Amino acid sequence: MRAVVWHGKRDVRVETVPDPTIEAPTDAIVRITSTGICGSDLHLYEVLAPFMTAGDILGHEPMGVVEEVGSEVSTLRPGDRVVIPFNISCGHCFMCDQGLQSQCETTQVREQGSGAALFGYTKLYGQVPGGQAELLRVPQAQYGPIKVPDGPPDDRFVYLSDVLPTAYQAVEYADVPQGGSLVVLGLGPIGDMCCRIARHRGVGTVIGIDLVPDRLERVRQRGVDVLDLSHFEKAEGELLATVREQTGGRGPDAVIDAVGMEAHGSPMGKLAHQVTGRLPDRVAGKLMERAGVDRLAAFLTAIELVRRGGTISLVGVYGGMTDPLPMLKLFDKQIQLRMGQANVRRWVDPCLELVSDGDPLGVEDFATHRWPLTEAPKAYEIFQKKEDGAVKILLQP
Ligand SMILES: NC(=O)c1ccc[n+]([C@@H]2O[C@H](COP(=O)([O-])OP(=O)(O)OC[C@H]3O[C@@H](n4cnc5c(N)ncnc54)[C@H](O)[C@@H]3O)[C@@H](O)[C@H]2O)c1
Ligand SMILES: [Zn+2]
Ligand SMILES: [Zn+2]
Repeated sequence: MRAVVWHGKRDVRVETVPDPTIEAPTDAIVRITSTGICGSDLHLYEVLAPFMTAGDILGHEPMGVVEEVGSEVSTLRPGDRVVIPFNISCGHCFMCDQGLQSQCETTQVREQGSGAALFGYTKLYGQVPGGQAELLRVPQAQYGPIKVPDGPPDDRFVYLSDVLPTAYQAVEYADVPQGGSLVVLGLGPIGDMCCRIARHRGVGTVIGIDLVPDRLERVRQRGVDVLDLSHFEKAEGELLATVREQTGGRGPDAVIDAVGMEAHGSPMGKLAHQVTGRLPDRVAGKLMERAGVDRLAAFLTAIELVRRGGTISLVGVYGGMTDPLPMLKLFDKQIQLRMGQANVRRWVDPCLELVSDGDPLGVEDFATHRWPLTEAPKAYEIFQKKEDGAVKILLQP
């Protein structure tokens, strides 16, 4: 089969690799029809190379048609149309029972001290071959795959694999009170969808912040207030003042950080440097080099912006082991912090409802590009560089 294969930093290729086969009685093989490229894939493309091996198949946002099932998969049949959640979970362990599928104890990658295995996501998460391919072996197929009806286009359902449940969880974790306010940092696919879901669920004030003009415009067109971070390049305090003005003088009840470890081009970056700047150079340098200190720009902005006693919902992925944090401010402002990989299976029912009844979130027009799988290298490039208006790219094998 053809698959998108990682070879090195900014080097992905489409290659012919062996077809997957059923390896366990709980496996299924799915023929992929649409498969997304995610901001998380950009971390693999850019900074997580030490955890990758040349030859790894990428991708964790696939849907398609079941080809074959193992003997213990009674819930699926060849021909079923399914979406595959990005985390692999069993549905019957202590964690799955409480809706913490991203911590599934059956698939936890214990050698690495990580949570549930993920498709196409580094040694840290089990090095499971991913879904940017013609065929995918799905472990724990007795539980994971989400059956969807025939008829509507793939675009209607494909985001159930990641974007929708991830954004849904981020909004749940933000826990905005009735009539309250929310700031969303980062308007890539995840932040954009957070804004849409928050609006749909009646959050009073939603403000989206980014620095890419077409991403800001796209969210503005959905009726969300937006702020262009690049206008505040010179004066960090002005962003805080502007947001406070729009949120009753105190700041928003909650902030979603939908940026994560690669925050870049941000005026708040200076703040991050101030934090590491307080450490002796020798220590800071070691941290930067060895411990993979995140660029915490967006997270630090969230800490500044959120009102006292408010909530930060961290959906962007961070990876440092020893990131220096302003504990004084977090403590003094009494900030509540919730984070983690999405528990995809947990949010499937409300998300299915959101894509089934009309299309209130606009998922059918969400993708900016639908390209053949063979165009993956170019697709990664334009998504990473934010060129050609690329926000969400679906590959179609
Ligand atoms: N928790 C989960 O389960 C989960 C699932 C999917 C994705 N993610 C993570 O969510 C994040 C967003 O994913 P995406 O697909 O939308 O990625 P993306 O890279 O397309 O979006 C990030 C956006 O943040 C903007 N940005 C950069 N620095 C900023 C700053 N300082 N302030 C405000 N905006 C800034 C960028 O311009 C970009 O538009 C990534 O870190 C990804 O790994 C988490
Ligand atoms: Zn994803
Ligand atoms: Zn489990």
